Amino acid sequence: MRIAILGYGVVGSAVAKALIENDKIIRARCGENIIPVIALARKNKKNALIPITTNIDEILQRDDIDVFVELMGGIEIPFQIVSQILKKKKPVVSANKAMLAYYRYELENLAKNLAFGYEASVGGGIPIIKILKEGLSANNILSIKGILNGTSNYILSAMNTKGIQFYDALKTAQELGYAEADPSFDIEGQDAAHKLLILASIAYGLRAKPEDILIEGISDITSEDMYFAKEFDFTIKLLGIAKTKNSKVELRVHPTMINKDKMIAKVDGVMNAVSITGDLLGENLYYGAGAGGMTTASAVISDLIDIARNEFKGPMLGFRNDFQFELLNKDEIFTKYYLRLKVEDKVGVLSKIAQLMSENGISIDSFLQKPKQDEIHSTLFFTTHSTFEKDIKNLLLILEKQDFIKGKPFMMRIEE
Ligand SMILES: NC(=O)c1ccc[n+]([C@@H]2O[C@H](COP(=O)([O-])OP(=O)(O)OC[C@H]3O[C@@H](n4cnc5c(N)ncnc54)[C@H](OP(=O)(O)O)[C@@H]3O)[C@@H](O)[C@H]2O)c1
Repeated sequence: MRIAILGYGVVGSAVAKALIENDKIIRARCGENIIPVIALARKNKKNALIPITTNIDEILQRDDIDVFVELMGGIEIPFQIVSQILKKKKPVVSANKAMLAYYRYELENLAKNLAFGYEASVGGGIPIIKILKEGLSANNILSIKGILNGTSNYILSAMNTKGIQFYDALKTAQELGYAEADPSFDIEGQDAAHKLLILASIAYGLRAKPEDILIEGISDITSEDMYFAKEFDFTIKLLGIAKTKNSKVELRVHPTMINKDKMIAKVDGVMNAVSITGDLLGENLYYGAGAGGMTTASAVISDLIDIARNEFKGPMLGFRNDFQFELLNKDEIFTKYYLRLKVEDKVGVLSKIAQLMSENGISIDSFLQKPKQDEIHSTLFFTTHSTFEKDIKNLLLILEKQDFIKGKPFMMRIEE
């Protein structure tokens, strides 16, 4: 089987290297050689293992390529290129979660019965697409909770274990190569949201796009939140959450307080993990490396081997008949919340906050006051009983206008 690699960066070059180095075991497993014939890049590479071209047409016009592997990144350009390839009835493998977050249904329509592998787009080395699409296909999926971004998980783990602030943890992550020079995609939750949307399509046929769902990042988390979490036996993780509620599904990505004894709370550093609860299976946790050239190449090549074996399990998103849940409105999310409020330390503040909460139908579950930071300010921490998102958002707007509140009130959701 002859393949072209569109994009010879971290992943593309690792795919070429792994195909060459592991050729014997790959041939033994699929009965033929998988040969990387040519790769695309913007600039030529001196020490590339295979011929490189900077001209996409040179690749698309060849008729000796059996499978195209898209590893360029971006959204619109790869979508146009992959669409062209599918129209020529050629199979595709891609690791591009951003393209899939926006165009997975369009691509599925174009692919029809052609193989379209995207195992590498979520969870790196964890074969989570296969698990959902094949292993758990008998289940109603009640929930998916995932640590889907290793950069954010590294930063939160470092803040938790070393007691450092967000920007110091981010700087260390950049020095260690775990975070990009522009880390916004990872730390603001976009990358995790793209992956959650892909999983939600396989589990629920959900057609949502990133702008339809609740996405919050980790950059407002402080060491005070870590302090509170420790006091109350929580751990803070950036979670991608999908949960069914009757015929609706809530989808959200945000920093989350979770009980420190939960399996997923123990997943530290750059690792990824996905906890899936099925009605037949109960809860299972899948854990593994989430990114990196070779880890991602491992997933890309597993798709290529499936194609070579003629075992590719289509259709692309796994549904043979129309099947679709509806997305739950963000305001209808019903969960427990954590609040951090910096206040002027004066008589009556606490009772006023309690009164405002009560007027908004919110009931306090726990309360902690951190020892005074200076002569006039204190930090108050609250957790609430389960309440609607719209009520907590309304409370935050009201709190922000109170003259005894200093700075922006901070809220985080709690997951049981
Ligand atoms: N890195 C990971 O750990 C990881 C994990 C999971 C999924 N992914 C996904 O895998 C894909 C590739 O990621 P990566 O980290 O390998 O990216 P990367 O290192 O930036 O490599 C991208 C490659 O594509 C080429 N390219 C980009 N746009 C192009 C264009 N318009 N025309 C021609 N060539 C173009 C680049 O050429 P130049 O080399 O000349 O710039 C480079 O060779 C992305 O979709 C990413 O989200 C990555």
